Amino acid sequence: MSEASSQWITDEVLSRLKDAPNERVRSISEALVRHLHAFIREIEPTMSEWEAAIGFLTTVGQMCTPERQEFILLSDTLGASMLVDALNYQSAGSETESTVLGPFYVSDTPVFENGVAIDAGMPGVTLYVDGKIVDEFGNPLVGVTIDTRQSDSDGFYDVQRSESLRYLRGRFTSDSNGRFSFWSILPSSYPIPDDGPVGAMLKAQGRHPYRPAHVHFRFFGDEVTPLVTHIFVAGDQYLESDAVFGVKDSLVERFDLHDPAEAPADHPVTSQFAQLKRTFVLKRADR
Ligand SMILES: [Fe+2]
Repeated sequence: MSEASSQWITDEVLSRLKDAPNERVRSISEALVRHLHAFIREIEPTMSEWEAAIGFLTTVGQMCTPERQEFILLSDTLGASMLVDALNYQSAGSETESTVLGPFYVSDTPVFENGVAIDAGMPGVTLYVDGKIVDEFGNPLVGVTIDTRQSDSDGFYDVQRSESLRYLRGRFTSDSNGRFSFWSILPSSYPIPDDGPVGAMLKAQGRHPYRPAHVHFRFFGDEVTPLVTHIFVAGDQYLESDAVFGVKDSLVERFDLHDPAEAPADHPVTSQFAQLKRTFVLKRADR
């Protein structure tokens, strides 16, 4: 079939979309059909290649569980998540920048008081996270929920090791000075889960699966515009080649080592500890 004689297929599909009652659904559907058909015309797949493509997407769906989201991984590794992020969150000024949510967010994050340890005794370099949340004028934001999670020193998240145990993640609330804090261990760089179809895709594309070490933060509350971000560890070897394109320069911080004498009085430590001290600037919620 020639290019000209196959055009009627695209035209016919587009013509059947014109009565969609929702304008947004119609325009998105039209764009999907136009771009999908153009993609197929460009790559000219064989029947077996198209079957492989359907099989790939089927496997991506079958890999998904409440603890593992292969479609988010696919979106992340194709740069789609960061493109959506870039189009939606253009920082107007001093606000902390956003980045990808990632695949290991869970809804049953344990709730803690500020200042507690969330590492459940996992081995690693002790880390003290000393955070502050302010608005764009520097005023402290009180009562903001902070949802945090990170990898252990081997690069694994709790949900990769256990279905039920939750550690190296927690939910905190900013105090009357906008502050929050917790004790943990230094996170490690890690490969995104690469034992599934997305891992096979990266291998076929000649790409490594690693993400630079980071701590995830998600902020929300009645007074603020929600923010999903990470703070990356300065000096990590994968900062320039994050498998999911999530690094922004403003989100890289030094996790410097401190002597035990510098630890807060209410939490004495016996050896050197790393510290992440960071102020997060959130937008007040639109009223
Ligand atoms: Fe992560």
